Amino acid sequence: MVGNSDFLDVSGRVYLVAGAAGGLAAPLVRALLERNARLVLMDMNTKALEALTSAAPEAVALEGDITDKRMTERAVTLARDRFGRIDGGVNAAGLLPIAAAETMEADLFRRCIDVNLTGAFLFSQALAPALRAAGGGRILHIASVSSMVSNPAYAAYAGSKGGLAQIVCVLGREWGPTGITVNATGPALTDTALTHEYLSDPAFRKKAISDIPMGRLGEPEDLIGMALLLLGPGGGFITGQTIYVDGGRTLV
Ligand SMILES: NC(=O)c1ccc[n+]([C@@H]2O[C@H](COP(=O)([O-])OP(=O)(O)OC[C@H]3O[C@@H](n4cnc5c(N)ncnc54)[C@H](O)[C@@H]3O)[C@@H](O)[C@H]2O)c1
Repeated sequence: MVGNSDFLDVSGRVYLVAGAAGGLAAPLVRALLERNARLVLMDMNTKALEALTSAAPEAVALEGDITDKRMTERAVTLARDRFGRIDGGVNAAGLLPIAAAETMEADLFRRCIDVNLTGAFLFSQALAPALRAAGGGRILHIASVSSMVSNPAYAAYAGSKGGLAQIVCVLGREWGPTGITVNATGPALTDTALTHEYLSDPAFRKKAISDIPMGRLGEPEDLIGMALLLLGPGGGFITGQTIYVDGGRTLV
């Protein structure tokens, strides 16, 4: 039984974070470090990764592409070598191509599926043996409201995120007996490098806000409480879920 004060306690735990330097992940990384978690941070953006890691002695950086399973395997090895254990992983790597279905380039569609869906699967797959050997662990993906809602021009993105929500369900069932939980959070539109160009269009921004019952865009900090719950002791019996942190965007 977990004591009340320990529900969100991640101190001493070791997590991989993929897409660590991104707009949603970096504040979560800082929150985990403030709570004495130890982290292996993976991203393709070397400069942003260095900036994030430079002031964090309890974090190790690894330049890597989530679509290459060997990179996540290397990150797991790094976690065990440096910190002596591995407790889970957060996948916040992603791409958002918005394009009308009739004219969307096939390569762009494939790359979106490759990073957002195949990458998420390979990240989970690379973590599983080490977590099983540890008697269990936590895997958390950043899905999206697009796992559920159908925005025009989002075929690739919504396809990848809808698929991710289903993979989370399947892995939740498949790995439940091993003590590994697999979940996702679904954020609403948030102003980060991923979305900034689209949100710079006043009409796009206005519509995005009006679609959210709570009347504002998401903030990266909105996700931290849910992430701590799903990574910490309080989340030990939650698996296979995509939990929306979206100001009501998915309500119909
Ligand atoms: N910002 C939003 O509005 C929003 C809403 C819902 C869901 N999401 C999801 O949250 C996640 C993070 O989004 P964000 O807004 O922080 O985006 P971001 O662009 O700020 O960060 C994404 C990070 O992933 C890294 N990355 C991209 N491809 C990679 C790859 N192949 N391997 C390793 N790293 C890679 C990038 O270098 C970047 O640091 C994405 O999966 C996105 O789909 C974002």
